[in-house]
Amino acid sequence: MDWDERLLTGVEKIDAQHREMVELATLIRNAMAGGTLSPEVKTALGRLVTHTARHFADEEALMREIGHPELGPHQVMHRKLLAEVTRLGHDLEKGAAMTALGLHNFLKYWVWDHILVEDKKIAATLAAQTRQAGSD
Ligand SMILES: [Fe+2]
Ligand SMILES: [Fe+2]
Repeated sequence: MDWDERLLTGVEKIDAQHREMVELATLIRNAMAGGTLSPEVKTALGRLVTHTARHFADEEALMREIGHPELGPHQVMHRKLLAEVTRLGHDLEKGAAMTALGLHNFLKYWVWDHILVEDKKIAATLAAQTRQAGSD
């Protein structure tokens, strides 16, 4: 679940934000490894929610700008993921095990399913446009 260069899309700003979020999530996971929820974990989870909301907004703005054809469905996925990570922050009282499981699921669906498949399509749209601009 750690950062891995297979996650790179080639869009610099997106990659920087993804990396920041994965590293923050990894930090939270490691901080919970002892099975306790420290105040630091709560603060870091709050930051992860903020980062996620900002990243999704930035990414959607880019998609709009380049006319990415799958903006609508992509936004729906973002909304679900944001709800998931926000719920994680609210569900802390359920304990470390539930939080760890939720974090694991968020990382799994967000990182491995969403970035690798959906966000890479944004890079593909951008690359196609760059090629098009080059041949005009
Ligand atoms: Fe995305
Ligand atoms: Fe993304």
